[in-house]
Amino acid sequence: MTSFPKNFLWGGATAANQVEGGYDEGGKGLSIADITTAGSLDKPRYLTYELNGKRGKVAGMFANALPEGAKGKIFDDTYYPNHIAVDFYHHYKEDIKMFAEMGFKVYRLSIAWSRIFPNGEETEPNQAGLDFYRKVFEELKKYNIEPLVTISHYEDPLYVAQKYHDWQDRKMIDNYVRYATTLFKEYKGLVKYWLTFNEINSAIAFLGMTGDKPSNEMAQRAYRKLHYQFVASARAVKAAHEIDPDYVVGCMICGITPYPGTCDPADVLAARHSMEESIFYCGDVQCKGEYPTYAHRLWDKYDVKLDITDEDLKDLKEGTVDMYTFSYYSSNIITTHKTDEEAKGNFAAGAKNKYLKYSEWGWSMDPTGLQYYLEVMYDRYHLPLMVVENGLGAVDKVEDGKIHDPYRINYLRNHIEAMKKAIADGVDVRAYTTWGCIDLVSAGTGQMSKRYGFIYVDRDDEGNGTLKRIPKDSFYWYKKVIASNGEDLSE
Ligand code: BG6
Repeated sequence: MTSFPKNFLWGGATAANQVEGGYDEGGKGLSIADITTAGSLDKPRYLTYELNGKRGKVAGMFANALPEGAKGKIFDDTYYPNHIAVDFYHHYKEDIKMFAEMGFKVYRLSIAWSRIFPNGEETEPNQAGLDFYRKVFEELKKYNIEPLVTISHYEDPLYVAQKYHDWQDRKMIDNYVRYATTLFKEYKGLVKYWLTFNEINSAIAFLGMTGDKPSNEMAQRAYRKLHYQFVASARAVKAAHEIDPDYVVGCMICGITPYPGTCDPADVLAARHSMEESIFYCGDVQCKGEYPTYAHRLWDKYDVKLDITDEDLKDLKEGTVDMYTFSYYSSNIITTHKTDEEAKGNFAAGAKNKYLKYSEWGWSMDPTGLQYYLEVMYDRYHLPLMVVENGLGAVDKVEDGKIHDPYRINYLRNHIEAMKKAIADGVDVRAYTTWGCIDLVSAGTGQMSKRYGFIYVDRDDEGNGTLKRIPKDSFYWYKKVIASNGEDLSE
């Protein structure tokens, strides 16, 4: 069996709003994540706001959920888990030291846009914000850990997010490019790998996966947002290459492998069309530099009309990404038939796959789906691939100061083995960064109890706890995996 390449980048991944805290420190502006409440498996997260002098809340994580005229607002009697999160803002040295102890070669982190441009529209960046990330990158350098930086990970500055209704105005392109260019200039020599938007396809991924037909208006907004983000991403890629030809910039796609529910040809075609809509649409534009032929079918389906200029098309062509990166947690089922049992979880829906086991949060566990996904994407784009999110969200128990998490080890081992099979098949995989290498606030539910980490953080769903860090059993296991370059997967 082929081994992992010699310079394979093993590591972990987080996002600023889910770990940093310090939401109002160092001149940071509010982001959309700062007005998002805690939810659970059965209860959605809400955005809180004020409208005509009255307070209100609406389920969602993006500004598109806010009613017309509403202003996102923080209320003293409401708990916002991202405000402190796991306080990486003040613990980053300790956390990076622990990553180094595991032998991390790479750490995927995101920059909070509102730390750099507090309202998203200033012309000059906030120096304290720039300084914070410089210190983080210098700390990583101390341990030879390569940063892999997501420029935008679900946390647009609140001011522009509501002003432009979640990317419904092309002015957001300039705002984003100014922000990204500032980072490329500022961190030249400290950062090499960049990702333009986290899970860019999430805007439409869930339109096509559940089988529910979204309204034309919802689809119009999602496709418009995406067009502006594609152009913003392409212009950022061009700027990055001009600033430093050694920069490597990737797209980042939410990778969920869709399977036909039956061998009924209608299901097979529906699964393929779902893959086009949910997954390929974004990768095709960002990797190939133009809209795919089937885009017109998707737009017609919802009567979508886009504002696409000649300059946009030119930039899409010239600003293709250097690598394809993606998150992968699970697969799902697409069927035209009535289903007996539904998969129910946060971010999970559709028919249940009887061949798979499900996590406590209802996500299917399917390493073969990762192998399938890697093989399909390499064949399609011939670009280096990185698995930049993968992991199991589970409840952990502290027993005598220790955390035994064989379920997490098992999940990760199975996915590493699947990755190895794809590599044996000739797929060029360069990195594996497990999600939430340190426990963090779940994006989907706002919970702390949905833990992914190798490092336990003492904090609960209501914000109680000392924030003490404790290595779990998986910490020592992953250390061995990295030291053996993926050869020793035993417990
Ligand atoms: C991905 C996101 O969708 O999944 C992360 O990029 C998120 O931000 C991760 O945390 C896991 O989802 P959840 O809902 O378990 O936090």
